Amino acid sequence: MDTAEKIILFCFLLQAVCRRDFSISLPQKIEALSGSCVIIKCRFEIQEQYDKNLTERATGQWLKNGTDVKNNLVFNSSTSSQKSFMKGNITGKLKDKNCITVFHDLRSIHSGQYYFRIEGEGGLKWTYTETSVSVHVIDSPPKPTVQLYVEQKEVQDQEEVLEGSSVSLRCSAETLCSSPPPTLTWSSTPRIPLSESIRLEELISDLNFTATHRQHRVTFTCTITYQLQDETKTAQDSITLHVQYAPKISPSSSCTRTDVTVCFCEADGNPSPELEWHLSGRPVTNSSNTFISEERLSSTGLRSSITLHQALTHTSTLQCVSRNTHGNASQLFQLPSSVARLNLSVLIGVVVVALVVMMMCAIIYTCVRLSTKQKAQNEAAGTYASLQLSAPPSEYETLNIKRSDTQ
Ligand SMILES: *[C@@H]1O[C@H](CO)[C@@H](O)[C@H](O)[C@H]1NC(C)=O
Ligand SMILES: *[C@@H]1O[C@H](CO)[C@@H](O)[C@H](O)[C@H]1NC(C)=O
Ligand SMILES: *[C@@H]1O[C@H](CO)[C@@H](O)[C@H](O)[C@H]1NC(C)=O
Ligand SMILES: *[C@@H]1O[C@H](CO)[C@@H](O)[C@H](O)[C@H]1NC(C)=O
Ligand SMILES: *[C@@H]1O[C@H](CO)[C@@H](O)[C@H](O)[C@H]1NC(C)=O
Ligand SMILES: *[C@@H]1O[C@H](CO)[C@@H](O)[C@H](O)[C@H]1NC(C)=O
Ligand SMILES: *[C@@H]1O[C@H](CO)[C@@H](O)[C@H](O)[C@H]1NC(C)=O
Repeated sequence: MDTAEKIILFCFLLQAVCRRDFSISLPQKIEALSGSCVIIKCRFEIQEQYDKNLTERATGQWLKNGTDVKNNLVFNSSTSSQKSFMKGNITGKLKDKNCITVFHDLRSIHSGQYYFRIEGEGGLKWTYTETSVSVHVIDSPPKPTVQLYVEQKEVQDQEEVLEGSSVSLRCSAETLCSSPPPTLTWSSTPRIPLSESIRLEELISDLNFTATHRQHRVTFTCTITYQLQDETKTAQDSITLHVQYAPKISPSSSCTRTDVTVCFCEADGNPSPELEWHLSGRPVTNSSNTFISEERLSSTGLRSSITLHQALTHTSTLQCVSRNTHGNASQLFQLPSSVARLNLSVLIGVVVVALVVMMMCAIIYTCVRLSTKQKAQNEAAGTYASLQLSAPPSEYETLNIKRSDTQ
């Protein structure tokens, strides 16, 4: 059996299919944005006997909510669409059985059931009453959808993402007829720099990045924008990222020393980390000597301060250790050296003692000089001395006398 024979046999068995009849292919339902357009994909078929009557001059009509040509006609391709109920154009070539139609400036009154009709030469006039398209005019555009992928795997939202993993936020949107076509844009709160990649044909926008703690609790929003003649319409979808990360110790953690040594350590991690102090390698507990207090700074931050009352030797080291389920971090503290302080006080002591000794020496030297001089004077003038002696003895004189006696 050659191919031609096969076809003949096939057509004989399925006569109804092979003998072409009037039929049309239309989408069941289309949504259109109010103020915008709608494109109706459309192809029709006619009985073979009318093939010659489908010429360049063929016209197409659309009927709404019924198939009565008198009452339901809303568009005729051969009359100016300015005056008709529907503004638009059959862009398909009717001669090629293509009836793709564009309607502009749709309003809610245009919602309804649409039927196609073809009119050609001679007796070719046919309304496709069996198949229609439902046009639904909506006021606001449908929301785009944001989907989270971690390491190329789809994840339900609200799931936690581990720091360092590759994250892809995919925004996809059903697009409605619009001129210019709608666009997708990404934004975030709090604002962080975003680099998106848009594939316009599919209207998909990917936001790919490596998760860091900076994206924890950041909300990413994808917005679809329709730039219509008289207004701009938008719709959006958002996702809030939750990033888990190992603790990090804040560089502001430090120690101060007054009478006692006080150190504080600040760590941030998700889940919230724990903080521990190690003095010379050994964990420190809360006691009268070492007072530890903790303070939650946020859902991820913790601050701990330690007050050390005991004497620290020059070999003492203080370390702050922070850990959560994802890792640990530690910081070694430069203790304000108590050894150096000891040296300084010793130095001060030595200086003070030296000064005192020097002053004493100076006083003694002066006194000795004074008394020697007096003695000499006394010896030279006896009257003065007797006179002096007759006066009530003062402490000074007694001292002087004693001194001079001992000399
Ligand atoms: C469409 O317009 C053409 C030209 O004005 C007219 O001949 C035809 O009858 C119209 N079709 C319908 C269904 O009104
Ligand atoms: C209809 O479409 C054709 C072909 O695309 C174009 O030449 C014509 O100007 C359009 N008419 C209107 C009213 O838009
Ligand atoms: C057509 O039908 C829709 C519901 O299917 C209705 O909302 C609309 O008002 C009808 N339009 C006309 C012109 O009858
Ligand atoms: C097709 O058109 C021709 C002339 O244009 C006419 O003679 C013929 O009857 C038409 N065929 C049908 C089926 O109407
Ligand atoms: C972003 O990631 C997705 C899957 O995770 C991938 O398909 C896409 O190609 C990536 N885009 C860019 C620009 O790397
Ligand atoms: C240490 O003890 C004090 C009082 O005894 C208390 O206020 C403080 O919270 C304790 N610190 C820790 C880390 O348990
Ligand atoms: C965390 O602590 C464990 C022991 O507690 C240790 O084996 C590991 O090396 C530490 N990791 C880091 C990054 O410090």
